[in-house]
Order: sequence, then structure tokens, then C-alpha cells
Amino acid sequence: ASYDMGGHDTYMHKEISEQPDAVDRVLRGRIDDRFNTVHLGGLNLDAREARGIRRVKILGCGTSYHAGLIGAGLIESLARIPADAEPASEFRYRNPVVDPDTLYIAVSQSGETYDVLAAVQELKRKGARVLGVVNVVGSAIAREADGGTYVHAGPEVCVVSTKCFTNTVVAFALLALHLGRIRDLSVAEGKRIIEGLRKLPAQISEILESEDEIKKLAEQYADAKSMMFIGRVRGYPVALEASLKLKEISYIHAEAYPASELKHGPLALIEPALPTVAIVPDDELLEKNRAALEEIKARSGRILAVAHREQEKADHTIVVPKNEDELDPILMGIPLQLLAYHTALALGRDIDKPRNLAKSVTVE
Ligand code: G6P
Repeated sequence: ASYDMGGHDTYMHKEISEQPDAVDRVLRGRIDDRFNTVHLGGLNLDAREARGIRRVKILGCGTSYHAGLIGAGLIESLARIPADAEPASEFRYRNPVVDPDTLYIAVSQSGETYDVLAAVQELKRKGARVLGVVNVVGSAIAREADGGTYVHAGPEVCVVSTKCFTNTVVAFALLALHLGRIRDLSVAEGKRIIEGLRKLPAQISEILESEDEIKKLAEQYADAKSMMFIGRVRGYPVALEASLKLKEISYIHAEAYPASELKHGPLALIEPALPTVAIVPDDELLEKNRAALEEIKARSGRILAVAHREQEKADHTIVVPKNEDELDPILMGIPLQLLAYHTALALGRDIDKPRNLAKSVTVE
């Protein structure tokens, strides 16, 4: 595919920049201010069926899997349905127990990833209900699913996913709110989340305005041979996705760990040559996350924090606007897309077409 780059040097930069509009699109026409809920036309799931769901299992690959991890957290916290995400390929190779009371959700930007499609087909064969959270309209996974929602990110050309990741997470927030309001989420809570969702486009624009500052930071960290990304609960999938993005386009080795697991192993790696990127939201886990920063500092590790206010234990902090706790991961991922981008740029990488990778993997 070839689309106009609109004055950007790379599709990745163009697609990162498009996120305020893309998020606006996924929200448009779906919010119901009368009942403080969300309407998603294509779900094919009535209220009675929605109440019968006992578990949610989300399947995807790569960045879509990470979006699914955040989605599972949103569904669990807003709809109070046990939910988890798993790489689609792992799922289909382990002869999973397919349960009729579980709602399965397949996530895919392209809608053509073979491992996801094969998982959907296996699920359908075993009588499961499968929804798709897909970007490309009319794609194989969208057609195979019983229903679902499009994420309306628009065409994504860069091999690595940015705007589609963000939109997919927002689509999951909508789905979680929809399920929550059918189940136990109160009117007031619904309103709180809706107000948060409406703030996202302007808050994303605000983050994009700090690009020059993030570029300078990227140039300072670009000499690292390896980087550690940590986060806790909602912050952990953000760390996973940020580390994947960095690996994919800069070829710097990166790993993501739950901050709480540092002491069970990776702390042994911490030294000045291994910088840590830490996700530190102002939420109920703030003090726990600060303690992790102290642990790292005590071992002379360099720290770049993504937080809602300056972190004194960190060498640098990227401050992002605060939203509702549940929606913070959406915003905290954005500066880390720019960090990966500018690191790769500083290293002269082919950003839109990283070596060895394809935009969609349609074979096994
Ligand atoms: C490939 C791409 C990744 C993408 C993954 C899943 O590996 O390189 O960027 O996240 O496929 O793609 P999908 O289209 O299913 O979201």
C-alpha cells in the first residue's frame, strides 16, 4: 500500500501523529450520555447473553496481544468479569479447554494474522462465541467472528503498530464500559469513564507536543546495549509494548518485567549500563512503584520515568497528563512510541521496514 506521507519522513511518525484524530474516530457516535454507556453495533450480544459471560479470553499476536492484555484489565476492572489475554499461537497449540460460558475475543490490526485466524476457526469449530476487535474492515478475522467491533484507526502502513494499538485499547475501554453497564458498573462510574474517554484526544495532542524533549532523551539513551522496562498491574502491559517497540525498530535488546518481580531476578542485571524505563502513574500503586525506583537507584541504575509528576529518584521524567486510573495506560504508551522512534532514528534504522519483520504474518 502507498498512502501520502503528509509531510512526515516516515509512516510511523505520521501514524503516531494521527492518534488524536484516530481516537476521536473510535469514540464517535458510540457514547450514550443518557444511560452513561456505550453502543457497539456489531457485537451481536444481547444484554442477557452479556450477563451470562463467566470469563473473557483475549487472543492476539505481537502488539495486538499487548493491547489485549490492557483490554483484559479494563474488562476485569469495569465489568468485573475474570479476563486474561494470551498469544493466539500459544493458545491454539495447547489444545485449550473451550468453555461455552467464556467470551473469546480475537484482536488483530490486519485481520489476517494466520495464528489468530486459526485460533478463531478452532474456537468456532468447538462451538465457542468469538468476537473480533479488528482494524481492517471485511478482513478474514472480522468475517470469521460472530460479531465484534472495528477500531477505526485508519490505514496503518508502518510495520510496527502505533495508532492501531492505541485505538484497540480505546475500543476495549468501550467494550468494558458496555459490559460493565449491563452488569454492575453504576451510572456514576459510567459517567466517570466517559468523561475520561472524551479527554483522551486533547491529552494525546498535549503529549505529542513534548516530542522535542522526548527526542533529546532518546538521543541520550540510544547508546544503551539493553534496556529494562518495568510497570505494575496496568503499567505492565505498557512496559511490554514499549519494550517490543524499541526492539522492533532500534534493535536494542529490551525486556519488560512487572516491577514487583524485579527482586526475584532481574535486579541482578541492574548497573549503570542498563537503563530502566519505569511506568509510574499517580494511582494506588504509586508508593510501591517509587520503592522499585529506589531499589534501582541503590544499584546505580539510570532511570527514565513516565509519570504524572516529576519523580525524584529518576534521572529523567516524562510527565504525561492524568486521566482516570483505568485509562492512564492509553496515555502512558504514547511518549514511549516516540522514544522508540527517536532512538531508532538516532541509530539510523529503517523505521518503517525493520529487518526480518512483516506487517502481517499470514502464514504459519
Ligand atoms: C506482525 C507485525 C506486528 C503485529 C503482529 C500482529 O508480527 O510485525 O507489528 O503486532 O503481526 O498483527 P495483527 O495485524 O494481527 O495485529
